[in-house]
Amino acid sequence: MTLPPTVAWVGDAARGHLELLDQTRLPDHREVLQLTSLDAVVDAIRRLAVRGAPAIGVAAGYGVVVGLQQRPSGRAFETHRDLVCKTLIDARPTAVNLSWAVERVRARLAAEPELGAALDEARAIHDEDIALCRGMGEHGAPLIPDGATVLTHCNTGRLATSGDGTALAVIFEAWRRGNRLKVIADETRPLLQGARLTALELAEEGIPVDVAVDGAAPALIARGEVDVVLTGADRVAANGDAANKIGTYSLALACQAHGVPMYIVAPVSTFDLSLPDGSHIEIEDRDAEEVLSVRDQRIAPPGVGARNPAFDVTPGRLLSGLVTDRGVIRPVDTESVRAMLAPRI
Ligand code: MRU
Repeated sequence: MTLPPTVAWVGDAARGHLELLDQTRLPDHREVLQLTSLDAVVDAIRRLAVRGAPAIGVAAGYGVVVGLQQRPSGRAFETHRDLVCKTLIDARPTAVNLSWAVERVRARLAAEPELGAALDEARAIHDEDIALCRGMGEHGAPLIPDGATVLTHCNTGRLATSGDGTALAVIFEAWRRGNRLKVIADETRPLLQGARLTALELAEEGIPVDVAVDGAAPALIARGEVDVVLTGADRVAANGDAANKIGTYSLALACQAHGVPMYIVAPVSTFDLSLPDGSHIEIEDRDAEEVLSVRDQRIAPPGVGARNPAFDVTPGRLLSGLVTDRGVIRPVDTESVRAMLAPRI
């Protein structure tokens, strides 16, 4: 059964609304949310009803339109626009696609202060995201050896973007080219994006997938059961250091120790060249309850605390390359990142 679109806009700029597939309910329920208020959009982003850096950006672009629809009489357009943009940008801190998309819509509104212009820009971001996914798939597919076992982390597919994804776009494209690869999907605690979402997307495509607990990955890499590791990113600094779902860094360490190639796959909209390295990336800390429970079922005794950083930073020097929509960056360093991305970013 094909999944409904991850993000969609329905109707015109003045009265239309944002639709999101509620990813917290997958894989069991395919519920589409109809969002008509800024609060509802922010809540959906915060609780991961929409998630994955590019999809958050696309949703936030449309979120600006929803927010502008609610301008109270008497409040200046610019004042309201800036309030809406700030509210959206503050929803989650790590994925740079969120502020990138909102700032794009804001810049368009500075030149054309109308709802229609905001919707046009949000639609352009949405359309471009589909094309970026295609580019990453094409550049990355040749990196997967024929029949390889690919290990991936979190969810980086159609549910995380508007197209085929980032790391998963590479896997889908290799599969379409006839590579009979297999995938190991890290379950991705605490919210299980790998077990719930990646496994669902791959199974729907007929691609063989085994789910493994996160702690198994270094052992599987050490035993020679993994040929290549592919993940996405939420923000890549100018030197190629990349923030991604917690657990990505340990994959990079294991790959380096055992000589297994690891690539991070990210579109131009995920690079933040204003940050010289990964130490400047803000890491989102989430609610302890996500760790102390599994799918709303308490597993830890009362009274214990929890640590819940949602992302970690993988140093670019541990990576075999960064796959972008424009080509593969390697070696991963400031010079190569700038050569691929600046000044067109
Ligand atoms: O907390 P999430 O589910 O939004 O985290 C998503 C990831 O870490 C992805 O790997 C990342 O956004 C890049 S792939 C599109």
